[in-house]
Amino acid sequence: MTEANTETAHPRLPPLPETHRNALSLLDERYQRDSPGLFAEMRRRHGPVVPVLMAWDVPAWLVVGYSELLQVTSDSDLFARSYTRWNLGEYLPPEWPMWPLVGGGFATKSMLYTEGEEHRRRSAVLSDGFARIDQWEFEEFCRRSSQRLIEEFAQEGEAELILAYAQRLPVMALGWAVGAPEEYHDDLVTGFLQLMGAVGGDPNEGMRKVQAVTDELADRAMREPGPHIAAHLAHSGLGLTREQLSADIFVSIIAGHQTSANWIGNTIRLMLTDQTHTNALTRGRRSVTDAARDVLKDDSPTQIFAGRWAVRTTQLAGTTIQSGDLVLLGLAATHQDPLFRPPGQERHHSRAYLSFSHGPHGCPHAARTLSEIITVTGIETLLTHLPDLHLAIPADQLRWQPQVLIRALESLPVRFTPPVTSADPLGDSLWL
Ligand code: HEM
Repeated sequence: MTEANTETAHPRLPPLPETHRNALSLLDERYQRDSPGLFAEMRRRHGPVVPVLMAWDVPAWLVVGYSELLQVTSDSDLFARSYTRWNLGEYLPPEWPMWPLVGGGFATKSMLYTEGEEHRRRSAVLSDGFARIDQWEFEEFCRRSSQRLIEEFAQEGEAELILAYAQRLPVMALGWAVGAPEEYHDDLVTGFLQLMGAVGGDPNEGMRKVQAVTDELADRAMREPGPHIAAHLAHSGLGLTREQLSADIFVSIIAGHQTSANWIGNTIRLMLTDQTHTNALTRGRRSVTDAARDVLKDDSPTQIFAGRWAVRTTQLAGTTIQSGDLVLLGLAATHQDPLFRPPGQERHHSRAYLSFSHGPHGCPHAARTLSEIITVTGIETLLTHLPDLHLAIPADQLRWQPQVLIRALESLPVRFTPPVTSADPLGDSLWL
């Protein structure tokens, strides 16, 4: 395990505080290989609040305790959301590669980093937009989109499901809900992967690519009222500037896209590799919904979320957090806390997982429902049409993407028997 030196890696940053000398780095290759193992080690060494380092050895606190995470996310007066409170913000130049994930870049104008009354107003309108979506219509759209994607590779007898399916279904679904026509989908997906650090290249460049799209969507939405969320935000009386509208459209799509894509990927992996699931599913004892919910506590796509900033110097589980320190939410790690998962209960079925976070800034409830529809419909449709789907490589050869926030497979190669096609002139799909 590599640990930090006594100096930060960038000359513009102040020296590392005493608390973070020898802290674990989230860029450590072991984090990519075995994040659950690393979280367990962090808990053993530090307890519920862990000093960690991000890119350029920038220090932060990672909360891995279940009750401490509830405390941080519930108390937005003490642990606030605006990145402008960060005591290191002024030292970090725009090219710091984690800015797109922590708050810099153009999304600074989004509702994500607002606080108090402004957050309440903007999040209420956005949540209302998600809640207005007809769930049956949305599910039907997801089913048809899934079928379209499956048709593209079904006759090959093999596919790489992350790029061909898991990344594409959510952009179709969210494009429909938020108002991003298909011509923008490829740019959105490649931009998201780049800004998350999932593929090579400058994350800030990925951010600019996505911004070019959401600026256009904002212009369209301001010109033309419509049934989708972008238009709802533009014409709801919030009085958003074009920059704010573009940033809120960005948040509405990315917050659901990368999370749902990897919720799908991680659930398919679980179902294809975990015998208990495969057997229970084939015998009809458990459903895709059960498997997807298990993933939210056992293999969450949201490992860490950034974050909160301490409004004043305070104590958290006996650790002193200085005013303006960055506090990262260790969402996945809290599911290892004995408070959540009593020792010896491997198959613990609590639904009090924190993958969607908690409190006033947590994932909006209507969005959670939509994401479950995308994930479950996508997987059910896949298994209905390709029932003998299986991994094309041994499970231990599956690799995770080198990113900090999301737990995402690099690839998921599968094989299956190509389905028999029918030339039914009434159907708009091979299987309808
Ligand atoms: C349809 C799909 C989804 C949409 C549209 C969506 C939308 C959003 C939005 C707008 C926010 C910002 C809320 C705020 O700051 O007030 C948010 C936050 C969040 N979402 Fe979602 N989301 C989706 C799916 C998911 C999924 C599948 C997960 C994880 C399994 C997830 C986890 C989170 C987390 C961890 C936060 C941050 C909460 C915090 O700062 O405490 N979301 N989401």
